[in-house]
Amino acid sequence: MQLENKKIIVTGGTKGIGAATVKAYVMEGAQVVFCGTNDERGKATEAAVNALGAAGHATYFRCDISSKEAVDAFFAKAVEVLGGLDVLANVAGVEANCAAESYALEQMQFLMDVNVYGTVYTNQAAYKIFKANGTEGCIINYASDVAMMGMPNGAMYAASKGAVLSWTRSIAMEWGIESNVRCNCVNPTIKTPMYEAWLKTVDPEVKAMHLAGLKRRYPIDGSMGDAERDCAPVMVFLASDASRYISGQVICVNGGATMVR
Ligand SMILES: NC(=O)c1ccc[n+]([C@@H]2O[C@H](COP(=O)([O-])OP(=O)(O)OC[C@H]3O[C@@H](n4cnc5c(N)ncnc54)[C@H](O)[C@@H]3O)[C@@H](O)[C@H]2O)c1
Repeated sequence: MQLENKKIIVTGGTKGIGAATVKAYVMEGAQVVFCGTNDERGKATEAAVNALGAAGHATYFRCDISSKEAVDAFFAKAVEVLGGLDVLANVAGVEANCAAESYALEQMQFLMDVNVYGTVYTNQAAYKIFKANGTEGCIINYASDVAMMGMPNGAMYAASKGAVLSWTRSIAMEWGIESNVRCNCVNPTIKTPMYEAWLKTVDPEVKAMHLAGLKRRYPIDGSMGDAERDCAPVMVFLASDASRYISGQVICVNGGATMVR
């Protein structure tokens, strides 16, 4: 087991990549506390993961990471349950797409509140705990390839993920130098509810072009990946001691869709 007795917080663990991460961590022996904003899905994930009979265990609490008060309260409860903290996997994120010239303040605030400030609040809360306990902790954030390549009809989403990349590189330097805390970013392309929802909203012409281009875009498989098969093992590696000398990196889990960064 690669994560035996590791104490881990996962945000956005109720579906998609986050739920696959919670499951993989528990299978590898970790004690996990995870959050999301949908209690029904959170409780269902908690029950399903704990029914696997693995050495680890998962506990769900509701937390909207866009609220600093909620994040601080969630981390306090999580640390009480876990008895400390070794790893934060901050997977939660949201998407809101429209033509660049039409973004409304409400949409921009939504993206910034969850993707940018949610990342900052959760990372700060984790770092305070690492520092207080003298833990050489680990933070994994979620950005996106679109932060590097651009995204037509998703400029503000791309911008919010660009902020996550820059923030992660900066804390990797600052908190690495101060406390040996390592911080990395994952850029995934995985078929999840977020991707399926996006596919439903795009205009038919864009959708047809997207589907026709998959084979060329993804050298491996000619399609986006699977959360449990393709992303969860990378999340295990990044949370484990095997990656202790990797920091400030962007790990693209995308079948080779982007090769330069
Ligand atoms: N799926 C992809 O191909 C892809 C591509 C690029 C980036 N990403 C990023 O990867 C991460 C995971 O994406 P996914 O596809 O699994 O998404 P998803 O929509 O399937 O799941 C997102 C998770 O985040 C949680 N969440 C949303 N808002 C929250 C909030 N305010 N507070 C707490 N939890 C919240 C949801 O409850 C859910 O558990 C996101 O940050 C996303 O932006 C995904």
